Amino acid sequence: MAISKEAEQDVQQQSALSDDQPRKLLTVNQVEREFQVGGTPLRVLKGINMELKERELVMLRGRSGSGKTTLLNSLGGLDTPSSGEIWFNGLPFHSMSDDERTLVRRKHMGFIFQAFALMPLLSAWENVELSLRMAGTGRSEWKERVTHCLELVGLEKRMHHRPFELSGGEQQRVAIAKAIAHKPMLLLADEPTAELDSGMSAQIMAVFQNIIRTEQVTICMTTHDPTILEVADHVYEMVDGKFV
Ligand SMILES: Nc1ncnc2c1ncn2[C@@H]1O[C@H](COP(=O)(O)OP(=O)(O)OP(=O)(O)O)[C@@H](O)[C@H]1O
Ligand SMILES: [Mg+2]
Repeated sequence: MAISKEAEQDVQQQSALSDDQPRKLLTVNQVEREFQVGGTPLRVLKGINMELKERELVMLRGRSGSGKTTLLNSLGGLDTPSSGEIWFNGLPFHSMSDDERTLVRRKHMGFIFQAFALMPLLSAWENVELSLRMAGTGRSEWKERVTHCLELVGLEKRMHHRPFELSGGEQQRVAIAKAIAHKPMLLLADEPTAELDSGMSAQIMAVFQNIIRTEQVTICMTTHDPTILEVADHVYEMVDGKFV
């Protein structure tokens, strides 16, 4: 069937848009978060604005207590802002119910924590497989996907080791494989390199760059470590609940 010239141009323009200009994946507008502590309000986030585009590596940096984890939890829908908006992939996270957000989070997000959060009695392989099982991925896809993810993080030779038989950096790489197994759009990582020495931290950052390229994921992470900032596409510096 002949396609009209205009339609053809349209398709070309659209694919040019999606190929060359990364879409906005997450938008944060004037987010505030207040906790009640002993009857007194404690303002922890004070008007945060930010944006994450597809395939970006974005870092939140700031002193202990500046509000990084609180913000990251809001981005992942684990916490709700007191006011302001969080739009994830076109969805209004700020006004959705916990259940609705949980569904979106399970399908489209992955989380990585400072302390690796692996199941201690399961092997690297079984830990990643568990994440596919929980995401509802069909059993027939598990073997290929688990192998692929463990290869991506450079652990093909450690697939059957359990966490205590792995170094800290290797454990964190299993945690990354686990977090990306279900093909999330957004990976949120809270101080993923805090427990690692500088060599291992650099390896983790190389793995992050690799998975952004190959899995088309966006990564937002918090850090205290000034030596890894240079690999970020964007660094937000947080001071006392605000970006400076
Ligand atoms: N559930 C809560 N109830 C009351 N206060 C809280 C709560 N969660 C966090 N805070 C307070 O909010 C502030 C910011 O905490 P947050 O964990 O976001 O800091 P952070 O930047 O991640 O620090 P760190 O670098 O030490 O991890 C802290 O002063 C903390 O005590
Ligand atoms: Mg924190």
